[in-house]
Amino acid sequence: MTRTKSMRGGALSVLLTLLLIGAALLAFVGWYKFFREEPQPAWAFATPEMRFKYGSIGAEQAAGIPYWIFYVLPRLFPEKLPPGPGGYVALGVPWEQGQELPVGFTKKTIGFPRVGNNCAVCHTATYRTKPDENPTFVTAGPGHTTDVEAFFRFLIDCAKDSRFNADNLMAEINLVTDLSWFDKLLYRFLIIPFTQRALLDREVQFAWIYRPDFPEWGRGRDDAMNLTKYFMIKVPMDDSFGPTDMPSVWNLNKYKPEQGMFLNLAGDSHDAYSVIMDSALGLLGAPPKRPQEFVAQVEWLHEYLGALPAPSYPLPIVAEAAARGHALFGQHCASCHASARTGTRIPAAEVGTDRGRLGTWNKEAAMAANKVVRKMGLERKGLVEESIDGYIAAFLDGIWLRGPYLHNGSVPTLRDLLEPVAARPKLFYRGYDVLDAEKVGFVGTGPEAERVGTRFDVGQRGNSNYGHEYGVDLSTAEKQDLLEYLKTL
Ligand code: HEC
Ligand code: HEC
Repeated sequence: MTRTKSMRGGALSVLLTLLLIGAALLAFVGWYKFFREEPQPAWAFATPEMRFKYGSIGAEQAAGIPYWIFYVLPRLFPEKLPPGPGGYVALGVPWEQGQELPVGFTKKTIGFPRVGNNCAVCHTATYRTKPDENPTFVTAGPGHTTDVEAFFRFLIDCAKDSRFNADNLMAEINLVTDLSWFDKLLYRFLIIPFTQRALLDREVQFAWIYRPDFPEWGRGRDDAMNLTKYFMIKVPMDDSFGPTDMPSVWNLNKYKPEQGMFLNLAGDSHDAYSVIMDSALGLLGAPPKRPQEFVAQVEWLHEYLGALPAPSYPLPIVAEAAARGHALFGQHCASCHASARTGTRIPAAEVGTDRGRLGTWNKEAAMAANKVVRKMGLERKGLVEESIDGYIAAFLDGIWLRGPYLHNGSVPTLRDLLEPVAARPKLFYRGYDVLDAEKVGFVGTGPEAERVGTRFDVGQRGNSNYGHEYGVDLSTAEKQDLLEYLKTL
């Protein structure tokens, strides 16, 4: 036994301990800088409404954008946003005064602050009764102002630009915040390159939104079933195109699956719970990390949206006219909109509206999507595994706030919907939030609507304003009465 040997042994164990401490420290720093989850501030959950608008549903993990990159992109690439007011406002996102981010954008720290989305980005409406008024925000209303397609394209287009690099982004970030030297290194060498890679990966899945032969979705629409197809089940792209209006998602308890009702505009899903789960998975962009928490989120949304009432019409209603209108509604509309047919599918051949949306989905897609969700270990009744050829006879609660009308948003106002197809507007602008008190819907023409809105041409693919010619033979006075009644719903 020699002293040197034991000394060597001692030195070795010291070295080992140091190494272990070093490794542990590194692991800790790595965890802290990339995975540590901080709860959102309490205000984001202060009320159910705040939670719906700003609460994270877990989308920051896989689909989130690092906060400072999100912050500086519009400053570096303003030309890639739609023309209009500065920054993300140009996307038409509802944005409450005093809030750091628009409605539907969530900020959460997972290692570093990240920005994700929740349901409110597509399911919050704003309206004004006149131009010089502050907007009213309606949670669970249709996001008729938001240009989702422009947002998707913006992120990808930025990532593709050679100016998207660490030097440029760091220079801009340093102008607006004071990151520690360590965070600067992380941003420069890891976060910025990784984000760029992740955004470029999306380009392939989004190829169809760049097709020149497909018209713009425009404000307040997306191509919901194609999104599901290309993101959830990752099938090869086909030629289908079926943009749909963002629907309202209040009062979901009105749907009674046990009475043969379905959800989604063509009735592709069995019940609200399933739609909510699938929509949330779409936002996450990956299987949920903690399934139990995820299911709890879905349950909360289901409960909140289930019981949330539709908002009332904000302007005066002429009661006698509405009463006369009620009788007309009974004769011409109730057979579908206040009967056993409501919430059920009406054959496309009967209602006669645009067929584009129907071509975007089929039985095989439904089976594949259900399989994907089952594999995640999630339970829900899911998507309807049959061929579908019709549209749901809509519940009309809060219909005054749901313009433009029909599943593809092709008719700007309720009054226009009561005209035969040939007399409906062929060109209008979507996404302007001033109510048209005369025709009920949003103002779709005039300099302001043109400045703010996106152009909608009913001659373009997926945009036809055909069909649903009910009540079109009523007299002008009767149409006025019926309109008055529709305001009360
Ligand atoms: C990117 C925009 C977008 C996001 C985000 C989004 N939705 Fe939707 N949602 C839509 C569109 C568009 C439809 C209509 C789909 C169709 O049938 O064509 C829809 C349909 C629905 C429906 C069916 C409504 C009905 O009456 O049939 C419900 C319920 C719903 N969404 C809830 C949610 C919830 C809850 C979330 C968040 C977990 C969410 N959505 C996220 C755009 C969105
Ligand atoms: C034969 C059944 C049927 C009758 C009758 C009928 N509708 Fe409809 N209605 C539908 C269907 C189906 C849809 C969905 C069509 C689509 O979006 O392509 C619809 C959609 C609508 C919408 C658009 C909903 C939205 O969110 O965009 C409104 C408004 C509407 N109907 C009002 C009326 C009024 C008013 C009458 C009576 C004058 C009437 N409907 C008569 C079946 C009917």
